[in-house]
Amino acid sequence: MPAELIDGIAVAKLVRADVARDTEALVRRGVTPGLTVVLVGEDPASAVYVRAKEKACIEAGMKGTTIRLAAETPQAELLALIDRLNADATVHGILVQMPVPKHIDPQAVILRISAAKDVDGFHPVNVGRVWIGEKTGFAPCTPAGVMVMLERAGVEVSGKNVVMLGRSNIVGKPMVSLLVAASATVTVCHSKTRDLPSVVRGADILIAAIGKPEFVTADMVRPGAVVIDVGINRVDDATLAKGYRLCGDVHFASVSEVASKITPVPGGVGPMTIAMLLKNTVRAATQGLPQGPGQGPA
Ligand code: GUN
Repeated sequence: MPAELIDGIAVAKLVRADVARDTEALVRRGVTPGLTVVLVGEDPASAVYVRAKEKACIEAGMKGTTIRLAAETPQAELLALIDRLNADATVHGILVQMPVPKHIDPQAVILRISAAKDVDGFHPVNVGRVWIGEKTGFAPCTPAGVMVMLERAGVEVSGKNVVMLGRSNIVGKPMVSLLVAASATVTVCHSKTRDLPSVVRGADILIAAIGKPEFVTADMVRPGAVVIDVGINRVDDATLAKGYRLCGDVHFASVSEVASKITPVPGGVGPMTIAMLLKNTVRAATQGLPQGPGQGPA
């Protein structure tokens, strides 16, 4: 029987409706949550993502601002801008779109953003807070989105064998943090893993984030497993007018015949990333307020 689809567009819509409601409550208290995105250079894919983030903010009733800098902007100038945004009380979330041009050290950028405004969850302080389960920490948006999708799809994580395919700082490692906190038994696989297919076959829940188009095939998936595909790859396809198609790290056609639930690409994890970015920004705005009973979103 083909797997049930976990629809990321539908789940993201629910999260964004929550965010819009929480934003309204904050606006009533005189605070409009604000996200500032900084884009350095003219990478076309980044420009598309940044526009989508600004549009999503505005749709949720938040303030979405994009600052575009020339590709040759010196690192010192970018860091000085971050200092100004850190000091600006109307800016609750700061995101510098990655990748940055080669002459800029991405780690220096991440470290400069105040942890309280790091809605990407990339700053080591937030990495540590999430790892130790401190609620004030911001989890990176994609892994946080995967957790929400699993919950909304009724997938119990506690006690399950979860295989995380990929160990990036943005997806694999923070995914481990969140899964361990949710009482899963987690195995991390990567390019050096011996007999990777047999390890992957042990998964009740498989999360693929290795950036290799259609790498996971049906023979690697235990019948009935839940499969979450974080990959988004462009592959050449001469049969299409645009010359390419998008696919995930999972071979959808074959794996959907053995899995019990699966996320599609596109329309799976992707839409959750922006939804969780909005959620983190509302939380950043809320955490900056005096807390008290009945004073807005938790
Ligand atoms: N580039 C692609 N995805 C992201 C993201 O989630 N955050 C940042 N800062 N840059 C990105």
